[in-house]
This record gives sequence, structure tokens and C-alpha cells, in this order.
Amino acid sequence: MDKLIIEGGHPLRGQISISGAKNASLVLMPAALLANGVSVFRNTPELNDVYTMIKIMKHLGAEVNFSDHVISIDTSVLTSMEAPYELVKKMRASFYVLGPLLAKYGYAKVSLPGGCAWGPRPINLHLEGLKKLGAEIELDAGYIIARSRKLVGAKINFDKSSVGATGNVLMAAVLAKGTTVINNAAMEPEITNLTHFLNKMGARISGIETPILTIEGVDELKPAEIETIPDRIEAGTLMIAAAMTRGSVTFTNIRDNHLIAVLARLEDAGAKVLNQNGLVMVSLDNSDIIPSDVTTSIFPGFPTDMQAQWIAYMSTAFGTSTITDTIYLDRFAHVPEINRLGADITVKENSAIVRGVPKLNGAKVMSTDLRASASLVLAGLIAEGTTEVLRVYHLDRGYEKLEEKLNSLGARIQRVAGSEY
Ligand code: EPZ
Repeated sequence: MDKLIIEGGHPLRGQISISGAKNASLVLMPAALLANGVSVFRNTPELNDVYTMIKIMKHLGAEVNFSDHVISIDTSVLTSMEAPYELVKKMRASFYVLGPLLAKYGYAKVSLPGGCAWGPRPINLHLEGLKKLGAEIELDAGYIIARSRKLVGAKINFDKSSVGATGNVLMAAVLAKGTTVINNAAMEPEITNLTHFLNKMGARISGIETPILTIEGVDELKPAEIETIPDRIEAGTLMIAAAMTRGSVTFTNIRDNHLIAVLARLEDAGAKVLNQNGLVMVSLDNSDIIPSDVTTSIFPGFPTDMQAQWIAYMSTAFGTSTITDTIYLDRFAHVPEINRLGADITVKENSAIVRGVPKLNGAKVMSTDLRASASLVLAGLIAEGTTEVLRVYHLDRGYEKLEEKLNSLGARIQRVAGSEY
């Protein structure tokens, strides 16, 4: 397993282009299963979760080509309707194949996704939504088996906003007979990217970018192509890196309307944010980082996927801040590791109380999950001396060449392959 050796204390300066959004690609690729033929996804990030999804598509019989950030998926001849445990356990987004396979072929067998580093990841909303559309669902030896002769449109109300459940039910409803209304649908940009792709395939979805999606079912969809949106979480992570290191970085290929909450909080915390002509510049001089409380919420609120990174940022603020996660109540595995660098953070229920310290000191720290890993890299950028971030396979799941991007801005990060951990 690789590790990163980070020499702290180098301000980041320059310009960086943001890669395509992991969480858009992971829902767009399964949507290709709804048609026969070749769908094309441009600006697809080269990162491990995408390669895992490619393995799943190939396991189903699709032909997949991926080069220079363009994926083409030929679903003309599928040979399986099953997503096996060996692949699903590596990435819960594999569960996204359930809705499209069920809608197109009337059958799907998908392994139940496991939990993850910070606790259970339920799928009740996915299953309740598909049942509302007429699916028969059974659980057999850890697999969900879904059957339906023909899905029928229905009124579906999600008790809780769920990105995954919205995606799965949306990809089933587009081929259902009649009209489906999804109330309390997720409005994350990645779901909006999916709705645009589905409509390009011939689906009839309205209410896009609102919590009420109306889908007029159609008999058939055709392959299509689309540009994957930029990754708002990669952008937010690098913006915090720019501010933490007291640097000045200009970001290109981003959508500022996907980052309103993050940009507002960066300014609250003392960073200077310039936003013009599609470029965003984030800088912070040697003035203090202002402690800023954050509570995560669904889009367009502050994303839970930026919670760990914000904790790293607040660890050397001039005062105390409280970070509360309302989406995942126990997503704090990164806290003990950041404390190993000299931070002073305590977790109480679903909040982290961060008492700012003057500086962090380099040490060995262990990645536990994707965004935790990113927060440890951020902390290492400012820690005095050298920080070793172990098990960066977590990082490689969700970021394309993060250390190369950081080094191009002046960071000093070395990757050591196959270390003992
Ligand atoms: C997506 O996960 C993202 N993953 C996650 O990003 C992100 O943290 C999450 O949305 C929230 O924004 C992908 O898009 C691949 P949810 P998802 O269903 O769809 C509860 C990353 O770091 N819930 O919106 O699984 C759930 O427990 C990853 O890139 C149910 O109760 O998240 C959570 O509390 C991590 N029942 C809340 O809803 C369900 O059936 C939101 O989960 C489904 C979800």
C-alpha cells in the first residue's frame, strides 16, 4: 500500500484545472445500461472508483473504452444482470446498476453494499422507491434480487433526501409505464448531470434542479453522450489547501454555483475569494484563520464530503469552532489522526469541537476513508517537518493525481509505493 511523505510549510501558488466529478461519473456510467449501443462520457476522472465501475460494466458484458478522460460504453449485448459481492464490496456506488438493469431487463441481482469506515450505509430508500414502481424485491444470501415485468409510474416521497436513492429510482422510472413524481429528490449537481444525460437519451424528466422531479415514462431510450461536471469536492479540497498554506491559487474548469456554501465559509474564515469570468481565485495572507462553525446539509448547503477537510482547516484557526455533520453522524475517523499532528479536537455526538492550535507537527498518520485521507494530506501541508500519510489507496479512490496537482502548485509531496502498511 502506498504512502505519501509530505514536507510541510510551502504556500501553494499558481493555477489548477479541476477534474471531472467522481460522484457524477459513478451514476452516469450505469445509466448507459438503459439503452442498447454506445454512450460516451467526456471529462471522466481517472481514479480508482471509476476503474471499479468499469469492471462492473464489463462484468455485465458491456464493452468499455477509457482514454484521455473519455469513456465509451457499448451495452449492445449484456451477458449478465448480476453485480457480484467481490466488486460491490469495494464500492457501494455499484448499487446504482440495480435501477437501470431492473427497468431495462426486468431483473437484477446486486450484492448488498457493506457498511463503510464510518458506519452503516442503509439502502431502504432505494428499495422502497423501486417497490413503489412495482418491483418485487427479495434478499437472498446477501444479494438483492429485483424483478418486474413492467414498472409502473408512481408517486414517491423520500422521507430523507438521498443522492443514491434518487439516482436509482430515477433510472428505473424513465422506462416505467406512466408518470412518476419523486418528492424530496436530491438536488446535488451530480443528480442534475444525470437528469440531463437521461433526457439526452430520450427520457422526459422535468423539475430539474428542484426537489420535485416528474418523469413521463417512455418505451425506449437511445445511447447518448455528455460532459461530466467538474468535481466540486476536489475543488473545495484544493481551495482549503490554498488558504491553509497561506497561498494564492486560481481554479479553472469549476462551476462556482456548485460551491456557494464552501466559498462563503472560506470567506468567513478570512480567505480572499475572487470569482470572475469562470475563474475563482482563493488566497489567504499571514493573517489569522478565523474560527468558523459549519453544519453540513444537503445541496446547496455545506457538503458532508467537505467536513473532514474543514476540520483540518480549523485545526490552526485563532479560536474554537464546531463542525457538525447532519448527514453522517459518525463520520469522524479522521479526528484521532489529525490529533496525532498536535491538533486539539474532541468529538461529541455528531460534532467535532476544534480548539485552534498555533501549529501542527509532522507525524505518521493513517487514512481510514477517502475524505479522511484528504484531510490528513491538507494537515500535512502545514504541519512542521514531515508527515507520512499511510494507506493512500483511500485517497486514490476519489481524487485524480491529487499529489501531482498539489506539487504543481509548490507542495513537496513524495509517493512511496508499496510501503509496509
Ligand atoms: C453519495 O452517497 C455520495 N457518493 C457520498 O460521497 C456523499 O457523502 C453522499 O451522497 C451524501 O452527499 C456517491 O455519490 C457515489 P445518500 P449516497 O444516499 O448516495 C441516508 C464521497 O466521499 N440514507 O445521499 O450513499 C444515509 O445513511 C462519498 O465521495 C438512508 O437512510 O448518500 C445518509 O445519512 C462518501 N437510506 C443520507 O441518507 C437510504 O436508502 C444521505 O445518503 C439511503 C441513504
